[in-house]
Amino acid sequence: MKIPAMKALAAAGLIALANLAPAAAGTNMRAAAKLTEAECSACHMAFPAPFLPARSWKTIMNTLDNHFGEDASLDEASRAQIEAYLTANAADTGGNRQWMLRGVGENEYILRITEMPWWVREHSHEVSQRAWARAGSKSNCLACHRSAGRGGYDDD
Ligand code: HEC
Ligand code: HEC
Repeated sequence: MKIPAMKALAAAGLIALANLAPAAAGTNMRAAAKLTEAECSACHMAFPAPFLPARSWKTIMNTLDNHFGEDASLDEASRAQIEAYLTANAADTGGNRQWMLRGVGENEYILRITEMPWWVREHSHEVSQRAWARAGSKSNCLACHRSAGRGGYDDD
């Protein structure tokens, strides 16, 4: 089964490197994107920044010592760079990403992409029981979106 979801997103500029927010002072966004890809893909694919709001990323990046039951701690310099990259390119940083925030309260801190209303909506039908079983975990995006890991970061 070929799923064009990530391609569609990339085409929409959602996760394209060229569409990144302007660099915050002192942060080389291209380097920070590469660092995120390297450090956040050790245990799962590096999840695209536009899939969560900035406050979610901030919380994730400040609780890495207890990250979904794992210790994903980083040195402070790397942690800060990755947080800057993820928050600068989050769902609530503009562009055409407003649909990803629908149904999320302003004070809601959702830490899983798979618990975001947009994600639940997109996956509520069209996905077969067999496909879920094969993926093992909802978080295993690559099981169904084969190019998800390549979609965003390394097209420079
Ligand atoms: C030591 C392993 C490890 C590293 C390194 C790691 N993670 Fe995770 N992460 C996990 C585990 C385990 C889960 C839960 C997966 C599951 O429920 O199937 C997870 C889940 C997540 C989720 C939620 C996925 C969902 O279900 O929607 C996000 C977001 C996330 N990680 C972001 C990051 C970021 C950002 C980094 C880099 C700073 C990172 N992770 C590095 C182990 C890791
Ligand atoms: C068991 C298979 C499966 C898993 C696991 C899965 N998806 Fe999906 N996803 C689908 C299907 C099927 C669709 C609907 C078909 C489509 O729109 O391409 C979809 C739709 C989407 C869409 C909407 C795409 C569009 O163009 O409208 C996005 C974005 C998305 N998924 C991201 C993710 C992310 C991120 C993860 C991991 C956190 C994930 N998916 C995990 C099967 C899966």
